[in-house]
Amino acid sequence: MHPEHILAAPSHPNPYPYYAALVAGPPLVFDAPRKLWVAASAAAVNAVLGNPACRVRPAAEPVPQAIVGSAAGEVFGQLVRMNDGIRHDAPKLALQRFLAALDLDRVGARTRLIAAKAMGDEALRGAALSQWVFDVPVMAVADALGFAEAELPRVAGWTRDFVACLSPLSTPEQLAAAGDAAAALLARFSALVQADASPGSAVARIQQEAHEAGWHDVAALLANLVGLLSQTCEATAGLVGNSLVALATQAGLAETVGHDQERFLQMVNEISRHDPSIHNTRRFVAEATEVAGVSLQAGDVVLVVLAAAGRDPLCNPQPERFVLDRADRHVPGFGRGAHQCPGQALACNVAAAAVRALLESGMRLPAPASWHYRPSMNARIPVFSD
Ligand code: HEM
Repeated sequence: MHPEHILAAPSHPNPYPYYAALVAGPPLVFDAPRKLWVAASAAAVNAVLGNPACRVRPAAEPVPQAIVGSAAGEVFGQLVRMNDGIRHDAPKLALQRFLAALDLDRVGARTRLIAAKAMGDEALRGAALSQWVFDVPVMAVADALGFAEAELPRVAGWTRDFVACLSPLSTPEQLAAAGDAAAALLARFSALVQADASPGSAVARIQQEAHEAGWHDVAALLANLVGLLSQTCEATAGLVGNSLVALATQAGLAETVGHDQERFLQMVNEISRHDPSIHNTRRFVAEATEVAGVSLQAGDVVLVVLAAAGRDPLCNPQPERFVLDRADRHVPGFGRGAHQCPGQALACNVAAAAVRALLESGMRLPAPASWHYRPSMNARIPVFSD
């Protein structure tokens, strides 16, 4: 059975036949109950993401009302992810260059150690596994940013609390906790920047990139360091979790992947296309424009269904097949255009290393159907109960 509607798709057991029907239909369809245009084919997704009139936030609400005035709102308002124009371009360049220069082999090796330590001695199952899936990627990225090992679990906890403010499903209590967590993360990054200015440290390198990109706003830099953790959190947890689901459901996959790091990387790349963690993003039309022959007006909202585009046969032939070494793989799940994810290689290396550490610990894969998906309108993250 299809999901009830497009925003129920990310947490549906199998939304892909529904997405295939959308891809085969008109490029843009108006979903009247949700007041959204829906773009699902690869061509329509690319057209929306490449259209400068389609912005990442509504002009009238740059920061969600619910968090205006809190530390969470302060961070949100500075994020490159949430801005177009001058608050986006130079900061994005600096972050992109910093992330591109990371030593991914080192990050992978550190991730395996962090992942193994976070497993403890008990076999990871159910709630403990779900928690591990969330904590390890954020701890790995916090480690790459220079946090001391003893601080990693606390940083992961704050990051989870902070990202709650990004979901419209959050309660007032979660929003209050998000404010506290944002303040704590800003304070910790500020201390890190002051304490660890030695040349070659991660914060020194990012400051150097900021300087070279002409980005001199210290508060915005700190907010975007928090942003690196929040951008990692749910998306990479979903990639790790969906990898475990694939290993449990795709016959022979665990054996084929074996202990080969390259194959683990191929696996997470294919999962990012076949069963990705981020199913959709939104664009807000700032001025009248046309997309795929459809007139859009200022104030219109477009839901860009990245997960459907990855299954568009014009983008990836035989899209329903899981192909480890797929030639010319297109992965729309990391976005495209000005806001394309600069963390794709980092996320894939972290996820591959985490999953590998888990398999090499001798962990039994989750039993089929022993998971459901977290309630979310945009992310697909399994919750394990076995
Ligand atoms: C599997 C993991 C990840 C997925 C699926 C993912 C996906 C995405 C997507 C779809 C966007 C674009 C959103 C849009 O255009 O509306 C994005 C943006 C971004 N991502 Fe990722 N991401 C992941 C991990 C990461 C990591 C690990 C980092 C860095 C540590 C990161 C940093 C960013 C940043 C800074 C942006 C904003 C870019 C901009 O607005 O120009 N992401 N990500």
